[in-house]
Amino acid sequence: MLTRPRRNRKSPWVRAAHRETTLGPEHFIYPLFIHDGADDIAIPSMPGCSRLGREGTLQEVEGALDDGVGAVVLFPAEPDEHKTPGGEESYNPNGLVQRTIAGLKSRWPELTVITDVALDPYSSAGHDGLVSKDGRILNDETVEVLCKQALSQAVAGADIISPSDMMDGRVGAIRETLDANGYNEVSILAYTAKYASAFYGPFRDALESHPGFGDKKTYQMDPANVREALREVELDELEGADMIMVKPAMPYLDVIRLVREATALPVAAYQVSGEYAMLKAASQNGWLEEKKVVLEALTAIRRAGSDVILTYYARQAARWLQEA
Ligand code: PBG
Repeated sequence: MLTRPRRNRKSPWVRAAHRETTLGPEHFIYPLFIHDGADDIAIPSMPGCSRLGREGTLQEVEGALDDGVGAVVLFPAEPDEHKTPGGEESYNPNGLVQRTIAGLKSRWPELTVITDVALDPYSSAGHDGLVSKDGRILNDETVEVLCKQALSQAVAGADIISPSDMMDGRVGAIRETLDANGYNEVSILAYTAKYASAFYGPFRDALESHPGFGDKKTYQMDPANVREALREVELDELEGADMIMVKPAMPYLDVIRLVREATALPVAAYQVSGEYAMLKAASQNGWLEEKKVVLEALTAIRRAGSDVILTYYARQAARWLQEA
């Protein structure tokens, strides 16, 4: 045998020297669920994650920074009285998200604060967009509200605005709104290829944001499609996106790879709530070794071509990597 690939695996040194993919806390973005209350409330379908109260949010962010995780995304759990057909609370300058952004940035200016743009936490219909009387999701009317939401987040101090709603044309409209108001330094991380996935179930438990009727298939993508993802990449690039996201992550590694090859922009992948729940539940049952499977999953998501990963494991993974 002239060629023996195993020679390049024979020792820790050769393995480390030839490793193609790196993984570190600088690659993680930490999604946080927040609510306007004093206490943290555990999320049963996401063991280890809570809806964080005012004090809990500060503690979690401080912990993340200590662990080397420098970016968070905020997802608000809003009380029913804030949920309306028009989602007006989404652009309340004094809303929970806006106050939290300002509080975090004043305490930790170096923290990268990313915000979600979509109406589902604020919609009495539980949808990401406005709903017509006959139950259709209204695209252009929604985009107008999303622009107000994005602007209010920029005013509050957000570094990166992240539209997750999947309306057509929202990236360009948000870019124009931000620029027209002097926020040309605020970035847009576009949820470009966001699939209509059942893996979002635990997230909707966390925010009590399950759609009130129907599903999200007229705006989120069909899991069977991939060419469509490339079309979305092209549009978001033209509309001024700074970063492109694929979501979910592990069942969509092929999409991450193709998107990576289709754009020169940085690519983000979202290891979503259902992916977290699967890994957590199997680990808690003793069926999988948590540290090993989580680091393997995150490495695979990076190997597929993502630069950054949104993951509920951000802090834990950062600590495991430090131990190694
Ligand atoms: C809503 C939104 C969702 C997620 C992020 N933003 C849920 C949905 O589209 O229904 C899912 C994240 C996760 O499952 O971890 N705009």
